[in-house]
Amino acid sequence: MSDINIAVIGAGVIGKRHVQEIANSDQCKLAAIADPSPEAGQQAAALGVALHQDYRKLLETERVDAVIVCTPNSTHGEIGLACIERGIPVLVEKPIADDLASARALAEASRIARVPVLVGHHRRHNPMVRTARKAIAEGRIGKLVAANIMCLHYKPEAYYAVPWRRRIGGGPILINMIHEIDLIRHLCGEIISVQAVSSNRTRAYEVEDSAACTLELENGAIANISLSDTAATPWSWDTAAGEDRALFDYRPVPTHFFAGTNGALSLPDKTLWSYDGEKGRHRPIQDERIPVEEENVYANQLRHFLDVVNGATEPLIDAHDASQTLAVTLAVVEAARTGLKIDMRTDTRFSRGDATA
Ligand SMILES: NC(=O)c1ccc[n+]([C@@H]2O[C@H](COP(=O)([O-])OP(=O)(O)OC[C@H]3O[C@@H](n4cnc5c(N)ncnc54)[C@H](O)[C@@H]3O)[C@@H](O)[C@H]2O)c1
Repeated sequence: MSDINIAVIGAGVIGKRHVQEIANSDQCKLAAIADPSPEAGQQAAALGVALHQDYRKLLETERVDAVIVCTPNSTHGEIGLACIERGIPVLVEKPIADDLASARALAEASRIARVPVLVGHHRRHNPMVRTARKAIAEGRIGKLVAANIMCLHYKPEAYYAVPWRRRIGGGPILINMIHEIDLIRHLCGEIISVQAVSSNRTRAYEVEDSAACTLELENGAIANISLSDTAATPWSWDTAAGEDRALFDYRPVPTHFFAGTNGALSLPDKTLWSYDGEKGRHRPIQDERIPVEEENVYANQLRHFLDVVNGATEPLIDAHDASQTLAVTLAVVEAARTGLKIDMRTDTRFSRGDATA
C-alpha cells in the first residue's frame, strides 16, 4: 500500500509532532484531524485537512487507513477501541491507558480482531537504545547488577495550565517515569517488585511533582529511578538525548547508568566502562564511546508504524507489552501511596491477567 491515509486524533504538543512527521513522509499523508480545541481548527485550516470536533465523526466519515491517538491519557483506551472496532491500525501515544482494565481490554480487542496497536514508547526506535540493548544482551558489561536513572527536569508553570496534567493520572509518573520503566524493561528485563515514594509538596497539585522508585528485576538486578518535574537540572533523557531539540534544550550529559559485573554503560553519552585485565576499584578503569548514528526517532517510529499498517512487521511494542509497562508504572503510584512493596508476580491488581494475549 502506498500513500497511507493517517488521521491524528488530538493535535496538541505531541500530535503536532506526528503531523510534522507525516508531512515529511512520502509514504503517507494526513487525512484529517479530530480535536475539539479552537487551536486545532486553525491548524487544520492551515494544513488544508478536514477537522472534526468529535473523533467518532472522523472515524465514520473519513477514509482512513491508520490513526495516531495523541489525546489525554484517560481517553486512549476508548479511542483505541473505537479504531480497532473499525479494523483501523492505531498508534496510541503512551501511556496506553491510565488504568490497567482499559489497557488490557485494548490488548485483548487487538488480539481478537487481529488489528495491530503500536504504543508510542518512541525511545525503542532510537538506534542508541537498540545498540545499548544489544551490548547488555551480549554481556559486554557482564551480569547486570544495577541501573540508576535520573529524570530530573523543570516544567514551566504554563505546562500545568492544562487541567488534565494536574489531576491524578496526568502527573510525571505516568507522563515521564513510564518512559524510564519501559526503557528498563526493554534494556534490562522484566520487573518483579516495586517500592516507591512520591511527593507533591513543591507544586502542591493533586498529582506528584517528585518521586523515586526501586525496582527488582527478574534477573536479580536492582534499578532506581529519581523523578522530579520541578528540578532545575539537565539530568533527564529529554534534555540529554536530543530526540526533540525543537522542544527541549540539548545537553548530552550522562543520565542513565547501567552497571554490570564486568563493566558499565552510561547513556545518552554512550560510554562503555571496563577493566583491561584484572578488575578492581584500585585499578584504572577504561572508557570508550560506542559509535551510534543519530536518527530522528519520531520518523523511525512513523516508518515502523507504516510497516505495521502494511502488515510487513509486528509492532515493536504492542498493546500487551505496553500494558505491562503501565502495570509497573501504576504499581509505582500505588507503592508510593501505601508505602508497601508490590510483588508484580503475585499481586492480582498488577500481575499479568492473560498470559496468552
Ligand atoms: N511520546 C512522547 O514523546 C510524548 C510526548 C508528549 C506527550 N505524549 C503523550 O501524548 C498524549 C498527549 O499529550 P500532549 O502533551 O500532546 O497533550 P496536549 O494537552 O498538548 O494535547 C492533547 C490534545 O488532545 C485534544 N483532545 C482532548 N480530548 C480529545 C478527544 N476526546 N478527542 C480529540 N481530541 C481531544 C486536546 O484539545 C489537545 O489539543 C499524552 O498521553 C502524553 O502522555 C507523548
